[in-house]
Amino acid sequence: MTDTNGKQRPFLGYGLGLRRQHYEDVLDTKPEVDWFEILSENYMVDGGKPLYYLDRIREHYPMVMHGVSMSIGSTEPLNYEHLDRLKTLIERVEPAWFSDHLCWTGIDKLNMHDLLPLPYTEEALDYVAERIAKVQDYLGRQMLIENVSSYVSYNESQLTEWEFLREVAERADCLLLLDINNIYVSAYNHHFDPVEYLTAMPSERIYQIHLAGHTQEKDLIIDTHDHPIADPVYQLYAEAVRRFGRVSAMIERDDNIPPLVDLLSELDRVRQIGNNFSRDQVA
Ligand SMILES: [Fe+2]
Repeated sequence: MTDTNGKQRPFLGYGLGLRRQHYEDVLDTKPEVDWFEILSENYMVDGGKPLYYLDRIREHYPMVMHGVSMSIGSTEPLNYEHLDRLKTLIERVEPAWFSDHLCWTGIDKLNMHDLLPLPYTEEALDYVAERIAKVQDYLGRQMLIENVSSYVSYNESQLTEWEFLREVAERADCLLLLDINNIYVSAYNHHFDPVEYLTAMPSERIYQIHLAGHTQEKDLIIDTHDHPIADPVYQLYAEAVRRFGRVSAMIERDDNIPPLVDLLSELDRVRQIGNNFSRDQVA
């Protein structure tokens, strides 16, 4: 699969989100993880333990960076101090790429539920695409934008989420981090067909896939990242791989974090699906 610049889309293999509970284990056992994703904000500091472990683990593994607080859809001005700190970390880590969410964040307090969706209007589309382009210009590289899960929608929306995401990517000329669990969660909560979502995605821009667990409430699914990946999410992942070929994929686990060995066996299933369902030649 070639990307929008006509290059071969990079394939890193299968990764995990790096969590502090596993720092020692990773260094001691050097597990068979192809790459790690780090949460940028945890390392945008001047010193301390997280940076110590980051540097040591980076010596052994490729990394990508994932942010939660750029708030690209916010009406607040872009935070250039944040971007400067991000740039410093990019220079330190030399990640394959960096990403953030297509959302605006609630005030101060950051958790998964504060990653709020945008109204899917032409006005929001212009606005957010221009902001992404500005960030890319400032940092001198393309970024990946991730779809968030949602529990609410706006009456003003004129486009579907997948139309909006596709258009943002085209106009900003950015890349995509497709969170398969988030698509599944939003499809359930808003009663749309998740396969229709996948069908609309520009394959050449999809550089990374997120997989995670969720919590099923009575009429709602919440994107909690505190369970293993659910079977329907594996099925949707298989469908994505069938359509897009092999894409660098990883597991996000943010709460109720199990021993590393449990995540490794979960990652084996991800790897098997990734390799078996793709039409790409597996080396
Ligand atoms: Fe995600």
